[in-house]
Amino acid sequence: MTINRKILTLDEFTIQQMRQFPSATGELSSLLRDIGLAAKRVNVEVNKAGLVDILGDAGTVNIQGEDVKKLDIYANNQFMGVLQHGISCAGIGSEELDDFVVFDDEISNNSKYVVQFDPLDGSGNIDVNISIGTIFSVYRRISEVGQPCVKEDFLQPGSRQVAAGYIIYGSSTMYVYATKRGVNGFTLDPAIGEFCLSHPDIKCPPSGKVYSVNHGNFFQYTINTREYINVCQKKDKTNGGPYTQRYIGSMVADVHRNLMKGGIFLYPGTLDKPNGKLRLLYECNPFAFIVEIAGGRATDGKRRILEIEPTELHQRTPFFVGSKDMMDELDTYLQKD
Ligand code: AHG
Ligand code: MN
Ligand code: MN
Repeated sequence: MTINRKILTLDEFTIQQMRQFPSATGELSSLLRDIGLAAKRVNVEVNKAGLVDILGDAGTVNIQGEDVKKLDIYANNQFMGVLQHGISCAGIGSEELDDFVVFDDEISNNSKYVVQFDPLDGSGNIDVNISIGTIFSVYRRISEVGQPCVKEDFLQPGSRQVAAGYIIYGSSTMYVYATKRGVNGFTLDPAIGEFCLSHPDIKCPPSGKVYSVNHGNFFQYTINTREYINVCQKKDKTNGGPYTQRYIGSMVADVHRNLMKGGIFLYPGTLDKPNGKLRLLYECNPFAFIVEIAGGRATDGKRRILEIEPTELHQRTPFFVGSKDMMDELDTYLQKD
């Protein structure tokens, strides 16, 4: 009897990919599966956020002075927990933790990867039923396997990511991850509790109609950024427009839409915050990696995001990411800054 089943689960897909490399150990597949398990647990809580007493501020403030929602902490603990108990991860960095965490037990010390993540991105949107997400980034450690991992393992430029991905808790829940070989998206089938390959080999269209920026900060941006935004507003049929402005305040949702449909996302520096708001290691680097693999580009206005040498876990950077042709046009304005 032949079973004609076309849809691959996340596990089936990663194992299939691994088999193409005879020397692969399966550690990355195992790590991606661990992340999927934590994502499913977070998904359950996100879906009942309006029902249980998990909404609202936890009453604490994170290292960056922002209010922490209870789901941020729950998500942080889930991702940290699966990675600590798995066999692939020597340590983590998280938006919700002041410093890197070195797991330092026998199995973790023998693992070859470190992971950095934003457990819940867009968490200000939880209370109002808008899509939120998780972002993660995977590096091969540079320290010796068998020993505890070290700070330098985490402070590698984004170009050295082995994999990066995000989970979007939206109208459906999707897990998208990239390796150098491509970007693939998996939608959670709630009936079987598995992520199923729904968006194979995602490519970012070279151009689009959407620009995403916080217009409320317009007068805080540099003159060249403002000039570019004005150009977006003035586009018409003669020069690729008209453009539409879409900005929901969850980068995962904004960049996911632009990745699928074409578009550009901007979080520029402002007069009082020249490095903007977004964090290099666990927000910008993963998206820069994913979008570049899909054919797009990501910069800080001058440099390729993936070439920045990080110096600290929570460092911020201006962030511009999206369709290649739109990014090329943006360059002609920002290079003047
Ligand atoms: P987080 O919830 O992890 O702190 O991140 C929210 C981020 C990002 O998702 C979003 O694009 C941006 O903050 C929105 O910031 P503004 O409200 O300043 O536009
Ligand atoms: Mn975030
Ligand atoms: Mn967050």
